[in-house]
Amino acid sequence: MTTTPQPAAPAEQDPANLPRGRVFSGVQPSGLPHVGNYLGAFRSYIAMQERHDAIYCIVDYHALTSTHNGELIRQNTHEMALGLLALGLDPERAVLFRQSDRPEHTELAWLLSSVVPVSWVERTPSFKEKRRSQPEDINHALLTYPVLMAADIAIYLARYVPVGKDQQAHLELTREIVRAWNARYGDYFVEPEAVFNDSPIVRGTDGANKMSKSLGNVIDIFAEPDVIRRQVMSMVTDTERIRRTDPGRPEVCNVCQLHRYFSPLEFEEIWEGERTARTGCVDTKRLLADRIIAFFAQARERRRELSERPGYVEEVLRAGAERLEPLARETLGVCHDRMGLGPIAR
Ligand code: AMP
Ligand code: TRP
Repeated sequence: MTTTPQPAAPAEQDPANLPRGRVFSGVQPSGLPHVGNYLGAFRSYIAMQERHDAIYCIVDYHALTSTHNGELIRQNTHEMALGLLALGLDPERAVLFRQSDRPEHTELAWLLSSVVPVSWVERTPSFKEKRRSQPEDINHALLTYPVLMAADIAIYLARYVPVGKDQQAHLELTREIVRAWNARYGDYFVEPEAVFNDSPIVRGTDGANKMSKSLGNVIDIFAEPDVIRRQVMSMVTDTERIRRTDPGRPEVCNVCQLHRYFSPLEFEEIWEGERTARTGCVDTKRLLADRIIAFFAQARERRRELSERPGYVEEVLRAGAERLEPLARETLGVCHDRMGLGPIAR
């Protein structure tokens, strides 16, 4: 039997089944892991480590744009790494490291910034949003944030970037930056593709906005079960379902949407109960809380085990950064050569 060559799959398809390539993604240590991180990004990280050459980074340099408490950044970096490992990120298959352990990222950001018109970064949606949300602290690093993000990805010549939809504009800018550098200095960098899964934007407990640490509308992954239960019970459901006997609209109700992922075998039945008002919002929330707690129970146990191994997380991060050194230096070597800078010692 002959096999027909398959065309390259568009990046929006199942992250686990894309043609092999290098993967890079980053998460800020600006809080603790939540359900939005997991559904939008982390489960893709874990799926992609199986078949791809995957590199995942805790981007502590990026966190400096909004958090100026060093102790908190250090703690959150540790917690984020511990959480990813507990959720199934396997350091034997994927590289996990801390951004500031590979300072070449910041050098590449500087080199790339020389091909980036200021207007490109000024119009970045995240910069405009920070202008509104932290008007007292519009620091320069906020402006250059997407250039550092481009450098994170480009330094390893990564092809795929699994992220939530909120990162789409950053990824588009990364592609433009890489293209501008290649046009000036000759083709070298890979234009990376964003990889979105089937839950690219998870709404928070307010039912309206994206789940986000800064909005305080999260469902935590590793909090105590009673905290998770409280967070789920506080969720806003279908705002037009006023009385218990009113029919619900599962398509708009965020609780029903989350059941899709946490009750995959019976969400249709749960939706039917809502539509016919056989079940009330409170019942559906209670069930969701049980399901979320059960879903992450094993990861919670694994997190506890790993946290009892002194030095384990630090060792994983250190070894990850060390493995990446040759790659990072090679890229900088090519840049130095083409851009007319001094040679990089090998
Ligand atoms: P951050 O915590 O902003 O560094 O985000 C880490 C990863 O989680 C990024 O890929 C985000 O796009 C993703 N993410 C964060 N919040 C959500 C959300 N509410 N829905 C989907 N993806 C998300
Ligand atoms: N901007 C991303 C976020 O806020 C974090 C990030 C930094 C990132 N560098 C990256 C994501 C490189 C993907 C690839 O979530």
